[in-house]
Amino acid sequence: MEIDYQLKPKSQRRTEEFVPDKPLPFGVLRTDHMFIMDYKDGEWKNPRIVPYSSVEVAPGAIVLHYGQAIFEGAKAFQHEDGEIYTFRIDKNAKRMNRSAEILCIPKIDEEVQIEAVHALIDVDRLWFPKQEGASLYIRPFIFATQDSLGVHPSATYRFMIILSPSGPYYPQGFTKPIKLLITKRFHRAAPGGTGSAKAAGNYAASLRAGEFAKKFGASQVLYLDVNNQYIEEAGAMNHFHVTSDGTVVIPEFTDTILRSITSESVMDLSGRIGINVKQERVRIDEFVEGVKNGNIIEAGGFGTAAVISPVGEYVFEDGSSLVVGNNEVGEYTKRIYEYYTGIQTGKVEAPQGWLKKV
Ligand code: PLP
Ligand code: COI
Repeated sequence: MEIDYQLKPKSQRRTEEFVPDKPLPFGVLRTDHMFIMDYKDGEWKNPRIVPYSSVEVAPGAIVLHYGQAIFEGAKAFQHEDGEIYTFRIDKNAKRMNRSAEILCIPKIDEEVQIEAVHALIDVDRLWFPKQEGASLYIRPFIFATQDSLGVHPSATYRFMIILSPSGPYYPQGFTKPIKLLITKRFHRAAPGGTGSAKAAGNYAASLRAGEFAKKFGASQVLYLDVNNQYIEEAGAMNHFHVTSDGTVVIPEFTDTILRSITSESVMDLSGRIGINVKQERVRIDEFVEGVKNGNIIEAGGFGTAAVISPVGEYVFEDGSSLVVGNNEVGEYTKRIYEYYTGIQTGKVEAPQGWLKKV
């Protein structure tokens, strides 16, 4: 791919290493540049890297009215050798195309997506945050740009990538387990809908539930299926629990659950870590019973931003609560977290192809 580099003058770019003096928030900071490519006349064209700035969209752009937009979330890490590596970026590129199919958006060759991510990181590599637990968060996204009020797939699109030097998604980091609200009031996705796509609309639809969860001191809702029988996932991560025999259980991927790359990676690593990991439909009543009778000893969430987030308590609308694992980070969760972040940061040998040098 021939990328047109329209970079900031050197005097306006970061010129030295980025050593934050405070804990970095998630997703707030930006780097100097962004990547753009447009879809028009049936093809993706004009790939360019330009200074980070606002973009113009027509007031009638389909994305603004009907939400035809998808995105990805990935991370890059700097290792002791000083090099920056993306983590399983090929999986993100593949999932972007899966989401594209579901949202009637034209696909982008996976190699092109990966090359674009690497080219942008290369330009802004000095923005990598040198802080324990921080990383360069990568946000590729595609949105519908055609100026049209009819409800139909757009004829034109924009693909963009922005970068955010970020700290942990949950401000308390890994050490303090989070709380989730279990409620039958809201559902994230319906069968036959867009729940398995990383579609912007899924997140818009989750905001009300997220605000409701906050009233109970919870970080997110743990969504159930539309019949309120099975655990699905949380607003920004898959769910898992650990049974007393040390098995990690992740709800089976249905068309209402996002196929988390973190979940898939933990399943891929189970042999190496020496932990049995399986997927199955998880009944909410059996889960609650299991926590109460001690058959479920740990729980948490898997996600790129969330990494491996322990959950210590579930709250219900009637004010009752269910504490898991003494509200502390459990043994298995800790082992998975250490192995997983060890691979990302280059301290543990990565499986072939998981890390790509920028
Ligand atoms: N589920 C939802 C709804 C998410 O937004 C995310 C975040 O990306 C995940 C699960 C975790 O997916 P991944 O591990 O690929 O980041
Ligand atoms: C991610 O984990 O990368 C996500 O996209 C979750 C998010 C909505 C912050």
